[in-house]
Amino acid sequence: MTILDGKKISNDIKDEITTTVAQMKAKGEKTPHLAAVIVGEDGASLTYVGSKVRACARVGFESTLIQLPDDITQDDLLNKIQELNQDAEIDGFIVQLPLPKHIDTQAILLAVDPKKDVDGFHPENFGKLALDMETFIPATPFGIMELLKRYDIETSGKHTVVIGRSHIVGRPMSILMSRKGQPGDSTVTLTHSRTKDLAHYTREADIVISALGVPNFLTADMVKKGVVIIDVGITRVPDANAAKGYVITGDVDFAEVSEKASYITPVPGGVGPMTIAMLLQNTLLARQRS
Ligand code: GUN
Repeated sequence: MTILDGKKISNDIKDEITTTVAQMKAKGEKTPHLAAVIVGEDGASLTYVGSKVRACARVGFESTLIQLPDDITQDDLLNKIQELNQDAEIDGFIVQLPLPKHIDTQAILLAVDPKKDVDGFHPENFGKLALDMETFIPATPFGIMELLKRYDIETSGKHTVVIGRSHIVGRPMSILMSRKGQPGDSTVTLTHSRTKDLAHYTREADIVISALGVPNFLTADMVKKGVVIIDVGITRVPDANAAKGYVITGDVDFAEVSEKASYITPVPGGVGPMTIAMLLQNTLLARQRS
């Protein structure tokens, strides 16, 4: 069994980006600049956005964090997005999700200039992903594809079972794994909360990609020997013994499933760090394409 070390691979990618940015700067080119918008005070979202901003400094990017109050109106948020669209200094930006309930998320994502949409959430970019056109691939699915690529994991002709149909992970992941190429060329089953007998599908799977958000959901009896496991779950589970009062737990019962798997991502240290590295990669692409 091999552990897919997202922390190491993400550091390799960050090193590669650092080198590219240093060369750009030496040539007098503009430094890539990522902006992140966060609305409200959700603890997990603040942590993720903080990590994204810190990662910018690590590779030599400029970054701007825009914190907006929970009760901001949709119009004011749309105005902020227009400002970022028009700001020539900003190469790419993200609006951290989820947004408060009174805001229409699709209206916000639709307002982002597709050329600066480094999350790849704009319908134009999502459509391009489905059509194999140049786009920004959403960072988490992009990170998973990069892990599969760098560990040279065979995906062609394999049965990939994706758990969860979110717009951020499950849905784009199912498209990417079915596209032509390596990684890709997989036969994909997209399962979700209405799937009957989900274990029937996971037991048949050569590759399981779980993005459900239910701690320890996937158990050893649900997978076959030699399976490749990608765990996208990052749920905070209360734990009085932990310094922060919680532990980050994946969708996969790592202790037992790792006994049967050929490859498996840990949580933390698997998919999570890859997401941040690929957001940086997309920001670099946005700069290079502009
Ligand atoms: N919320 C959870 N994951 C993501 C992500 O990749 N991008 C944004 N903008 N929000 C998220």
